[in-house]
Amino acid sequence: TTVDVDDDDYDLDGHVDFLSKEIHEQPAALRRVLAGRLDTRFATARLDGLRLDPRELRGIRRVTFLGCGSALYAGQMGAALVEELARVPADAEQASEFRYRNPMVDPDTLYVAVSQSGETIDTLAAVEELQRKGGRVVGCVNVIGSAIARQCGAGMFLHAGPEVSVASTKAFSSMTTSFALLALLLGRVRDLSAAHGTRLVDGLRRLPDAVEHTLAGEPEVAAVARKYAHAKSMFYLGRVRGSAVAREGAQKLKEISYVHAEAYPASELKHGPLALVDAAMPCVVVVPDDEVVAKNVSTIEQVKARGGPVIAVTNADLPDGLADAVLRVPRLEPELDPILLGIPLQLLAYHCAAELGRDIDKPRNLAKSVTVE
Ligand code: G6P
Repeated sequence: TTVDVDDDDYDLDGHVDFLSKEIHEQPAALRRVLAGRLDTRFATARLDGLRLDPRELRGIRRVTFLGCGSALYAGQMGAALVEELARVPADAEQASEFRYRNPMVDPDTLYVAVSQSGETIDTLAAVEELQRKGGRVVGCVNVIGSAIARQCGAGMFLHAGPEVSVASTKAFSSMTTSFALLALLLGRVRDLSAAHGTRLVDGLRRLPDAVEHTLAGEPEVAAVARKYAHAKSMFYLGRVRGSAVAREGAQKLKEISYVHAEAYPASELKHGPLALVDAAMPCVVVVPDDEVVAKNVSTIEQVKARGGPVIAVTNADLPDGLADAVLRVPRLEPELDPILLGIPLQLLAYHCAAELGRDIDKPRNLAKSVTVE
């Protein structure tokens, strides 16, 4: 396979750093992810690169995503989407743990190796271990011709374009959007109705514009970041659809601003972490407008009662004055909202790092891809 590299992809294009450029490239990247993959007639997705026919798709009894870092968190969002839309059990695991723990490999599971670079050694080794034991593994990779893409031989390319900044943004949202397509496809060969499929196809079509709209809120996010960037530590809380969003949000903050951040399921707050909440512990709470919105409101109230500042990331109408800061995203479709809710958290991490004068594209101690152990 040849890789076409357009030199312009390595220009800053008027941005001050690659991270800012790549965050703003997301609407275009997502349009490429979706191009040719939405099937209006049958209200489903087309992922021919998987090389799985409908009978094989029906035979899948579990989906396991494997990856490291942001690719792992993308896999967690993917697992939630697959369970919700296809009602097929799904999970995500650190590729490094998988390769070392003598995994039980199930021939009826679809394993998805997730990697922007396609070169991460732990993920590649997990693929090889799976294949050695007869597992069926497909790739979700950005770089065409990379080791993981070649080893898998089938999968979904992201087409996100080169990602230069160490922290993953456009590749992450391209991964989660691809997993929405996979979940839709698996759902539609099972019991997801045509009407439900149509709602999701329409939602996915509107996703790039919704991301663009969210990015237009950057000045407000920057103001919030300036206010909280000097915190020593922050909590990121979310439940159900918001869980993986919180994990990836915390990861972004740690990576580029060096502010300690810990993600927790909001429901676990009272089982330990609440002891740490005081005026010096800002809590970022992910609040999708879904069935558990009232639970998230009560989480915010519990944090506030201990004096903790709350930054809510939401598409719900929260009571006035409930949170100290509100980062809003548009309403899309409940299943797809996590993809959008992650965008302000990228901007929040970016502007915290900028406020603290960090080396945004090349954070200390980190590499873009870890190809040796
Ligand atoms: C490194 C990078 C992370 C990235 C991870 C997985 O740790 O610093 O940003 O998420 O590798 O990389 P991959 O290329 O496999 O997605």
